[in-house]
Order: sequence, then structure tokens, then C-alpha cells
Amino acid sequence: MTPNHYNFNQTTPQIEERVDALLAKMTLEEKVGQMMQIHIHEGNRAEMEERIRQGQVGSILSLYGVKDTNHAQRIAVEESRLGIPLIFGNDVIHGYRTIFPIPLAESCTWEPALLQEAARIAAEEASANGVDWNFAPMVDVCREPRWGRIAEGAGEDVYLGSVMAQARVRGFQAKGLTSGRKIAACPKHYAAYGGAEAGKDYNTVDISERTLRDLYLPPFEAAFDEGAGTTMSAFNDLNGIPSTGNAFILRQILREEWGFLGVVLSDWNAVGELVPHGFAADLKEAAKRAALAGVDMDMISDAYHAHLAELVREGAVPAPIINEAVRRILRLKIQLGLFENPYTDEALASESILKPEYRAKALEIAQKSMVLLKNEGGLLPLDEGQRIALIGPLADDHHHILGAWHRIGEDADTESVLDGMRAVFPLANVAHMEGIPLERGDAPHFREAVEAAQSADVAVLVVGEGEFMSGEAHSRAHLGLPGQQQALVEAVHATGTPVVVVLMSGRPLVIPWIAEHIPSVLQAWHGGIRAGGAVARILGGRVNPSGKLTATWPRAEGQIPIYYNHKSTGRPPTGDGTLQFDMIHLSDYMDEYISPQFPFGFGLSYTRFAYADLEVVTPTLGVDAALVVEAAITNTGERAGEEIVQLYVRDLAGEVTRPVKELKGFQKISLDPGESQTVRFEVPARELGFHGLDMSYKVEPGDFKVWVGPNAAEGLEGEFAIERG
Ligand code: NOJ
Repeated sequence: MTPNHYNFNQTTPQIEERVDALLAKMTLEEKVGQMMQIHIHEGNRAEMEERIRQGQVGSILSLYGVKDTNHAQRIAVEESRLGIPLIFGNDVIHGYRTIFPIPLAESCTWEPALLQEAARIAAEEASANGVDWNFAPMVDVCREPRWGRIAEGAGEDVYLGSVMAQARVRGFQAKGLTSGRKIAACPKHYAAYGGAEAGKDYNTVDISERTLRDLYLPPFEAAFDEGAGTTMSAFNDLNGIPSTGNAFILRQILREEWGFLGVVLSDWNAVGELVPHGFAADLKEAAKRAALAGVDMDMISDAYHAHLAELVREGAVPAPIINEAVRRILRLKIQLGLFENPYTDEALASESILKPEYRAKALEIAQKSMVLLKNEGGLLPLDEGQRIALIGPLADDHHHILGAWHRIGEDADTESVLDGMRAVFPLANVAHMEGIPLERGDAPHFREAVEAAQSADVAVLVVGEGEFMSGEAHSRAHLGLPGQQQALVEAVHATGTPVVVVLMSGRPLVIPWIAEHIPSVLQAWHGGIRAGGAVARILGGRVNPSGKLTATWPRAEGQIPIYYNHKSTGRPPTGDGTLQFDMIHLSDYMDEYISPQFPFGFGLSYTRFAYADLEVVTPTLGVDAALVVEAAITNTGERAGEEIVQLYVRDLAGEVTRPVKELKGFQKISLDPGESQTVRFEVPARELGFHGLDMSYKVEPGDFKVWVGPNAAEGLEGEFAIERG
């Protein structure tokens, strides 16, 4: 079957001939020009347009509007000596104008096809609006909820992250976009940016090569295998060498081991930042180090523009390095069809956005991304006849729900939870009261909000983070509710009226009091333009929640980093910690449980699912065979529902230590009340390996455990063994 997406990580002799012909005509300055990505703003417009005219620019980022992109393109194509078209890059992270839930939320659907479709819609809108190159998907595995950028990825797991990375590449690079144009994806940030120490953005990452290869790199390799033809070198120092000057990851792994043919673009000013990193004495040395390491294009630092030609002339940077970089950039431009089709049709731009079917998909994804964390006593779904007090700073919010990377997304495109509630419940039954601001500040309506709760049958509190509290450079050390929100929740709870808490955030939060005292908690994330409708439909029972967490929720910040696939240690805890100063020498805490608040893979439904009859069909298998496991899942509740069935393994003893559990498969199934389904997993044994002592990937014969369950902390347990082949 021909894939319905493009593969830009490949080439043909015809393409290479075209590149050769172009390269032969180019001066050194024009070559270096191709290696520059610029940002145009009012302050530099005239200078940048002149640079384009002189053939000193290869790409522009974050230029919005077809008029402006076409204008710049016209200068490149019609006024520069060789007429090489520009490529326009942009950040279309969770939608262009139709804003979908943040990527972390999208991953909680565990439905790659949905992520692919959201990415395809984003590509439709973006390509009609002058974007050729999308700086997404963000594929940084992240075990750090303090890090604001956890919002942008698919959570903490390498397997899930790889599956989702591929789905998004397929969507962004879809064939048949209405504009007749193409988009190239850019998996980022290469590499291990998600490992930032202490969750501070841009921070140092110092990890073993094995962790790099086993945890952080596979989603990149998966994305390139799927046809992604570019990547972005990260800001972070990786084991003492900044990623943007790191030949080990940029040349040895990327080019030599993986055979990647695509373009490496630096992150914003990351070449220039080699100086504050203390990796280069000045901008010239930064340019040299980045070019030698394998950064093909400099995003705005001007290091290449100012120094690269001179470095070549001095012999400090060999000419073939420049030719190779330019070859990759020209190849991409040819693959994208920019030479034949440099301009975007201005008439299409506005009619290509926010189509009804896009809005419908945004609602579906929002609904499926939300995670029911608690529902004691079946308080949810609410009864339509109940009098509801809808309270909180995010209850009628039209902005924060858009999430961290909404860019040109507009508040006016959104529906708030209040809008949604008014559509689902009888108008007279929904009383709305903001209560307090999102952050610290005067709260003159605090008491009124509590009183509103007092006279209602149920209080729905919509609380959480603003969109600006996650995303780039927005790390937090305290992961509870900001401002007076916790006080409001406690005051409303004290009225005795049953409380539902709807949380909005860009990350896992630390909410031990809420988890203990509030009967029903729905995690709604920053759910995009239809988030309000999605919340209301879930609260009203029109939709049965099905999302499951893709990142562990801690009980306390002191547990971070906390993730399901940790190592055993030589002193694995036998209980859940909190021994309060008893001298038991195990790997736990004296003053906190070691278990998370909510484990990876966790999420409830309005119905219940029973797991039974685990059968390991292949109790022994060769390294070239597949592990086959079956289990029967039954809907034992009263409603139809969807369940995300997860398969985990543990390699009991290896030449290097292995995690206590590793996700190796998942399936989402839909069951009517009383219905049962036998779910069958087939996992190739080659996917059960790791990077061994010599750092090569291997599958080791030996004994394993396997679980099929509803999340990382529960499941039916079985055993199998891999035999020597
Ligand atoms: C910096 C961010 O780290 C990166 O993700 C983004 O693509 C660039 N800025 C361009 O906006």
C-alpha cells in the first residue's frame, strides 16, 4: 500500500542531480545564505529583505500571513541571483487556528489515528497559510512535571512516545493537502532536552549513554523512519557538550548510525548560546563548532551569517561540510516542490481554517483526552435536574483552555465550560460564579462563591493553571493550584455540598488534598477550542470518559522524578514507604509514600472493566519470534465504554539492570455493558531489547514477566522466556 504521507528522509538520483546543478552555480556566500534562518520584525525588515535579495537567507520562521510570506518569497525567487525559494517554518504544535488539546493531553487518548488526524488538520490549515515546515512534533520523553514543556510532548514513556511521534509525522506530512502544497515535520528537540535537571528549562542534562539510547532517542529514530526529514538541535548541554555542538549525537548517531538524510536546524539562537554555555569563546567559534558538529541551519543567531564563509576561507571549516549542509537544505526544498510552487494561494487562506469538521474533531479529541481521576460514590455523571454551582477562575475561561502553543488561536473560537454546561444542562440549573482570580490577587467574590455552592445540589469547581504556566521557560517548583484556588476548593468542600473538581493544566499537578477529599476529579488539561463542550458532555454523561495518563502524577514535589519504569535497586521497597523513621534500609521515604498519586496509564470510566484469563500463548520464544499474550476484558458496569488495555514486561535479569516494568503494547477497545473481548497482543521479541554493555542494541535470552492491565500499577501477571535463537 502506498503511504498517504510523504517521506522526506530519502532521495532519488534526479533530486541529487538537481542539487548538484544548483550547488555548482552557488558562491560560498550564497551557500552560507541557505544555512541561515531569519526572523523578520518591524525593526529589521528592510535589512532582512535586502539579505534575501542578496541570496543570504534560506528560511524564515514565524512569519504569519500569506501576503507576507508571498512577499518575501517573491524577493527570493524574482530578485535574488539564483531565485532559490525560501522555506517558511513555524510552530504548529497543537493546531494552527483550530486549536486542539495540548500534545500531552492528546497523548492521553492513546489513539494514534486521532493524533494523526489532528496533525493533518493542522497541516491543512497551516499549509494554506504559507507554512512549509512545522517545528513539530515535540518528541522529548519527559519524566519531569516541573518542566513546563512536558505540555508539548507525549509524556514519560518511550514506546508510547515513539508511536505518537510517528502518528504526528504521518499527519503533518500528509499527502493531498487542499492547498496543493506539502509540509515537512521537524521532530525536536534533539536530544534529551526533556531530561532537564530539576525541571528548569534549558538546563543541563547529564545522563548515561544507555539512558540516552534507551529512553530519549527512540522517538526520534521512529519519526525519521516514518519519513520526517528535519530535526532541531536542542538548547541543552548533554553530558558536557551542548546538543547544538555535539558531533556524537549529530554526526555519529544521526548520520552514521541512522543514515538520516534530512536537515538539522538549530533551536532559536542555540548556535549563539554556545558562548554562554562556555563551549565557545565567541560567536565565530560558536559558528565553527556548530557547523563542524553538523548543524545545517542556524536559527537566527547570525553566527553563520557573520562568520561561516570566513571560517571556510581560513580552512577552519572544510568546504565539504558546507556543501553537505546546503545539499540537505536544497533537497528539502525540491522535495517540498518549492521550486515549482513557491507561492501560496492567497484566496485559500481564510477559507481553509476552522471548518466545521475540524471543530468536530477538536471536540472528539478533547473528550477523549480528558482523564477521570476519581469518582467516588458515582457522583458523576451529574443528573440534569441537579442545581449546579459552577465556580472557579477557569469556569468561564476562553483563553487559558487554548494552551501554551496556541499562537494565532483566538479566544473567540473557544467554548468555555460555562458555554458547554448551558448547552447540556437546563439553563436555570447552572449558576456561575468566578469566585477568585487565577493567580494571587483580590478575591471580593470568594464568599459569594462559597454561598452559591451552599445553595446548590452540587458544586463544580473549574480550577488549575493558566496557559502561561506551562510551555517554554515556564517551569514551576510548586505544582499545586496557584493563588487562592486551593483555599476556595477547601471552603466549598466545607459547605457539605458534593464537589466535582475539573482541573485544567499543562502538566501533572500535585493535589494530595483534592485526591483525598473531593469525590470526583476530572483532568481536562488545556483542551483547546472545544474543551468547554467536552467537559460539559462528560459531566452530563453524554460522553463516557476514556483518557488515561501518559505521565505519572506525584503525591509531592519531593518524589520527582517519579515514573513507572524505574529500576528495582538492590533494596526494593516492600511496602509503600512512610515508615516514619523506622530503620528499615529500603529505597523509600520516611515521610511520604513511594507510590504516585495516580500512576502512568491510569484513568477511570463511568463503567467498570474486569480483567481475566491471562494466557501467555508463547511461554517460550526465540529472539526472532513474537510474544503472544491474551486476556479477556469485560465491561461489568452499566454503560458502554472504552478501555485502554496495556501490556507491560519485565526482563528479570540482564547484563545491565532493566526497569521494573516497560510498556510494550496497548489497545483501545469499546465494550457494551456485559460485553467481553479477548484482547491479543503480539510483540516482536526484537522490541524487548536494550542497549547492553557494549552499547549495542540486543535482546537477551532469559526470563521475563508480563502484565496485561488497566494501568502501570495493576494487571494480570504471567511469565515467559526468550530462548537463545
Ligand atoms: C524555541 C523553542 O524551543 C522551539 O521549540 C521552537 O520551535 C523555536 N523556539 C521556534 O519558535
